Amino acid sequence: KTSFNIAVLPGDGIGPEVVNESTKVLNAVGEAFNYTFEFRYGLMGAEAIFKTGNPLPDETLQICKESDAVLFGAIGDPSFDHNPDAKVRPEQGLLKLRKELGLFANIRPLKTYASLIDKSPLKKEIIEGADIQIFRELVSGIYFGEKFTDEESGYAYDICTYHRDEIAPIVHMAFQEARKRRKKLTLIDKANVLDTSRLWRKVCKEIAQEYPDVELDFMFVDNAAMQLILNPKQFDVIVTENMFGDIISDEASVIGGSIGLLPSASIGNENALFEPIHGSYPQAKGKGIANPVASVLSTAMMLDYLGLEQAAERLRQSVEYAIENKYVTVDLNADLYYSTSEVGSFIADYIKYSEKSYYN
Ligand code: IPM
Ligand code: MN
Repeated sequence: KTSFNIAVLPGDGIGPEVVNESTKVLNAVGEAFNYTFEFRYGLMGAEAIFKTGNPLPDETLQICKESDAVLFGAIGDPSFDHNPDAKVRPEQGLLKLRKELGLFANIRPLKTYASLIDKSPLKKEIIEGADIQIFRELVSGIYFGEKFTDEESGYAYDICTYHRDEIAPIVHMAFQEARKRRKKLTLIDKANVLDTSRLWRKVCKEIAQEYPDVELDFMFVDNAAMQLILNPKQFDVIVTENMFGDIISDEASVIGGSIGLLPSASIGNENALFEPIHGSYPQAKGKGIANPVASVLSTAMMLDYLGLEQAAERLRQSVEYAIENKYVTVDLNADLYYSTSEVGSFIADYIKYSEKSYYN
C-alpha cells in the first residue's frame, strides 16, 4: 500500500499551527518515499462547538472511521475552563472520539536529547539517558464511569470501574513492547487502597506467565510520582490506568525538557489517532511560537503504525538533526529561535534532502 487516507483534526489553540507542520512534513515524506497522503479535515473541540454546537460532529467521526489514521492537534479553550457550569465542553469531543474509535492504548514515549539536557529543571545526572514508554489505558476507568452532580445537596461523584477485559489488551501490548526493549514492565497503581488496582495487579500477574523473559514489578502511584523525578532511569515500560497515566505522563514530560517535544499514539483494534501530549496553549495561539516537534513526532508514530518504518526513521532523524543543530522554537532557546513554520520547513526539507543524498 502506498496511498493513505489521513483524517486531520486541527482542534483548538495552537492545534492548527502544529498540525499544519505535520501535514507539511508528511508531504515531504510522500515526495521522498513515493507515498500519497490524502488529508480530510474535520472539526473537533471548542472550534466545533462554536460552529456547530457539538464538540464532535457526526461528520468528523465518520471521516475518522473511514481513515487509515487520525492526526489530531489539541483541544481546550479558556472560555470553558473558567465556566464550571458549561454543559457542553471541548474535551467531551476527544473523550467521545477515543471511545467511539476504541482507542484503548495511549502510548507516550519519553527520552532526552543531548543538546537539551540543561532545559530540564532536573539535574543532568538524573535524567541523562532516561528512556521510558508509558502505556496509559484510555477508554475506561474514572473518565468513563457514571457521573453525578446534585446542585441542591452539593453532592457529586465519578465512579471508577474496570473489567479484566479492559485491562488485558493493554497489558499484553505493554509486555510485548518491554520484550523489544530492556525487558522490564512496571504497573503503577494504588493497590493498597483501590479494588480496581487490585484487579489490575491480578490480571498483570496472570499475563506475566506468558512473558517469562520480562520482569514485572509494581509501584504505588504516589511513590511512582516521586520515583519518576528522583530516578527516572529505573523505568523501562510503564502500564497504568487512565487517570494515573494522565497525571504521571505530564509529570514525566519534565524529564525531556519541554512538553512541546512529546508525542503520543492512541491505538485501537481498528483505528489509531496521533497527537502531541501538550494542550491547546491558548496564550500562544496564532503567534507562530508553538513547538511543532511533538506533533511531528506523533506523525512519525503514525508512519510506524502504517508500516512505513523507514520513513518514520528518516523523520525522527530529521527532527533529531534540527534539535541537535539548535533549529528550535523559543521554548528551547530563548536567545536564538525560529518560528513554528520555520522549524517545520527545516524538518521537511531535511527529509527530502537527506533521502535523495542517501539513495540516489
Ligand atoms: C490528555 C488530555 C486529555 C485527558 C483531556 C484534554 C481530556 O489531558 O490527552 O492527556 O485528560 O486525557
Ligand atoms: Mn493530560
